[in-house]
Amino acid sequence: MTRSLATLTDLVTAVRRTTSVRTGWTDTAELVADQLRAHLPGPEILTPEQRLGQPDRVAGHLLHAAPDGAFSLLGLVWRPGQTTRIHDHITWCVVGVLSGIEHEELFDEALNPIGTRDNPAGEVSGFAPPGDIHRVRNTGDTVAISMHVYGADISRLGNSIRREYTLPVRA
Ligand SMILES: [Fe+2]
Repeated sequence: MTRSLATLTDLVTAVRRTTSVRTGWTDTAELVADQLRAHLPGPEILTPEQRLGQPDRVAGHLLHAAPDGAFSLLGLVWRPGQTTRIHDHITWCVVGVLSGIEHEELFDEALNPIGTRDNPAGEVSGFAPPGDIHRVRNTGDTVAISMHVYGADISRLGNSIRREYTLPVRA
């Protein structure tokens, strides 16, 4: 087994142990974030081809879906300038940046900007709805790669997005 796969196996085991404890989503996100920090893989968790990204979209690669649907692990690859739309989520989410930098904008329910942060490689953060409206963009000049853990079965759902939003035109 390669070192990357061993790390992924350790991470899956740790997330399983954490999510089997019944608590609130925010607590679960924080506990899973602790585990992702302890078992953060390198970008080589994805193949060289996957690490190139896609020209037309942020590329997602499902790395693990728990058989009971309790959580999923995805690797996301962002070419420079690639961005999500403004969105929120159906469940808790934990993100660890493996390479590059991800710029995050946060919004309140009225879509007013309430903060930004730059997440460099090694940064891990967790959050849970409500209050989880954001937009993420690769503002660096290299490919950015991040590991995402979601409390849902992404193999069935495709992604964790609850809703996408369009900013109102402000006079
Ligand atoms: Fe998101």
